[in-house]
Amino acid sequence: MAATSAATFSVGSAVSLGLKASQLPQSKQFVVRFNSQNSLTSFSGLKASTSVNCESESSFIGKESAVALRGSFASKAQKSSQRSQHHLNPQASYKVAILGAAGGIGQPLALLIKMSPLVSALHLYDIANVKGVAADLSHCNTPSKVLDFTGASELADSLKAVNVVVIPAGVPRKPGMTRDDLFNINANIVKTLVEAVADNCPDAFIHIISNPVNSTVPIAAEVLKQKGVYNPKKLFGVTTLDVVRANTFVAQKKNLKLIDVDVPVVGGHAGITILPLLSKTKPSISFSDEEVQELTARIQNAGTEVVEAKAGAGSATLSMAYGAARFVESSLRALDGDGDVYECTFVQSDLTELPFFASRVKIGKNGVEAIISSDLQGLSEYEKKALEALKPELKASIEKGIAFAQKQPVAA
Ligand SMILES: NC(=O)c1ccc[n+]([C@@H]2O[C@H](COP(=O)([O-])OP(=O)(O)OC[C@H]3O[C@@H](n4cnc5c(N)ncnc54)[C@H](O)[C@@H]3O)[C@@H](O)[C@H]2O)c1
Repeated sequence: MAATSAATFSVGSAVSLGLKASQLPQSKQFVVRFNSQNSLTSFSGLKASTSVNCESESSFIGKESAVALRGSFASKAQKSSQRSQHHLNPQASYKVAILGAAGGIGQPLALLIKMSPLVSALHLYDIANVKGVAADLSHCNTPSKVLDFTGASELADSLKAVNVVVIPAGVPRKPGMTRDDLFNINANIVKTLVEAVADNCPDAFIHIISNPVNSTVPIAAEVLKQKGVYNPKKLFGVTTLDVVRANTFVAQKKNLKLIDVDVPVVGGHAGITILPLLSKTKPSISFSDEEVQELTARIQNAGTEVVEAKAGAGSATLSMAYGAARFVESSLRALDGDGDVYECTFVQSDLTELPFFASRVKIGKNGVEAIISSDLQGLSEYEKKALEALKPELKASIEKGIAFAQKQPVAA
């Protein structure tokens, strides 16, 4: 991630999805131009990987920047011939709220979002300790204003005129706990916070991080329905970390350049419900049966790997903040009119018989524009079996969330 004060800088961006070759989106650039020497002008790295391989440079940032700069020069000459190019609007002024901003995920996430040129205001809400986080962050000389909100009496204000709400509030796992063990505490927290979102910014994109995501997203959907403001296109369970981990582990295993690797991850966000589709890895690469089993198990248990390494001090926070920031950045680009934004996320879905399912989706100004069904076509035998095997557990978690929210309906 490069925070630069150069007057003009461009960030290359491309995304990938599991479409047929003829449907693949082309590589593209999005370009930010600022006239001030002091502006924050780039927010690189937090984006879906490229679907069109460019020659690799020595590092992630190195390649990104180089591709972007090449594209920037090329764009002047070839503007009309490029199929997809998005110029970020430097006047863009999106407001992002983080609920649970003083926590292990909330703090680094706030820092990463503070670096986005698309954000004009960052609202940090928590039940405690958020003033110091906001004071600290507000000293960074990036354009967005940082405002702090503490406790239930300030929750409504934290949500006024907000475009994207990110919810990492709740308790994390301790060793020996499953994500489902968090249900009783986090279900109530998510319910309360989403009620406030429904009342104060019903049009916002809502990103749910609090676990168990397989249940908290259905809870949020029910609360929004009860409030009469449910828009399934704008409610997202954040599963980006599963993709980030899959990309990292596959690149390590196969000795590939990280920037080139993209693995779609579908299903849900707990244990066996996390299904990396290794057969759909870009670039196309073959895996032995042992490699598939080993990588799939590592991706599914990566959260537990961190929980155990932290030995009681929480779950994944830094990598989670990175994944969540990438998803926020993708959402902001979509809101800003970029027509080429794809991410894996847990959403209301008709891809399978389950009402919610994580898969790659196209995100636009109004939220989910399309669910990419081709990712589930042509699966390997291993993936087909794993997909069937995850459905009962995912179904039970979804139903548990819905039942919880229906048992204690909110006041409309
Ligand atoms: N989706 C994912 O991939 C993923 C990955 C890792 C962790 N998580 C989940 O994210 C959540 C947060 O994890 P963490 O490590 O940041 O935990 P943490 O305990 O460090 O931080 C949680 C924060 O939420 C705040 N909070 C609690 N109740 C609140 C309420 N009612 N309103 C507002 N804020 C409230 C706490 O004060 C705290 O600051 C956990 O549920 C964890 O399981 C999700």
